Amino acid sequence: MKKKTGFIAAMILVGLALLSTRYYMVDLPVWHFLGGGNGPDPATLHLQGEFVESNLGAAEGPAGSLTVRMIAQQFVFVPQCIVVPAGVAITFRITSADVVHELSFLGTNYGLKAVPGEVTEATFTFAKAGEFKIPCHEFCGAGHYAMRGHLDVVPRDQFASMLPGARRTCEPR
Ligand code: CUA
Repeated sequence: MKKKTGFIAAMILVGLALLSTRYYMVDLPVWHFLGGGNGPDPATLHLQGEFVESNLGAAEGPAGSLTVRMIAQQFVFVPQCIVVPAGVAITFRITSADVVHELSFLGTNYGLKAVPGEVTEATFTFAKAGEFKIPCHEFCGAGHYAMRGHLDVVPRDQFASMLPGARRTCEPR
């Protein structure tokens, strides 16, 4: 009897631990009902707010700061390709138009989740120029394994000499 109680207690602990790290997997309507997710509405991302198409990609802020805005959706990242300068702190702001995805920068420890109804922000610095694949790292459906973006890290002076349009986004190659 004692053993059984212990087992049940352990299961409850495991459940709580899972819930504390995976709360974003709770259904979106339920989550909104519970008061979570004050971020952008996944259904109107392209119509209003920070994540309208013209605002996606890299944008320069004050004092040379750089912010990259992206949407993850089944089964692409928008934009699919981004260029950033090496050695500069890059702030990523991402959200999802449907389910949870995760941007992972292959060959680095960097990664961030895209969660519907929320904006995830993280700042990374890529020390050296190079090309990075950005495979989706969270199972998100049938096209998950083909979902990958592309990051081009270029030397700072090269970035500075690029045209504004080319700085915002680039084509995958
Ligand atoms: Cu998106 Cu897996």
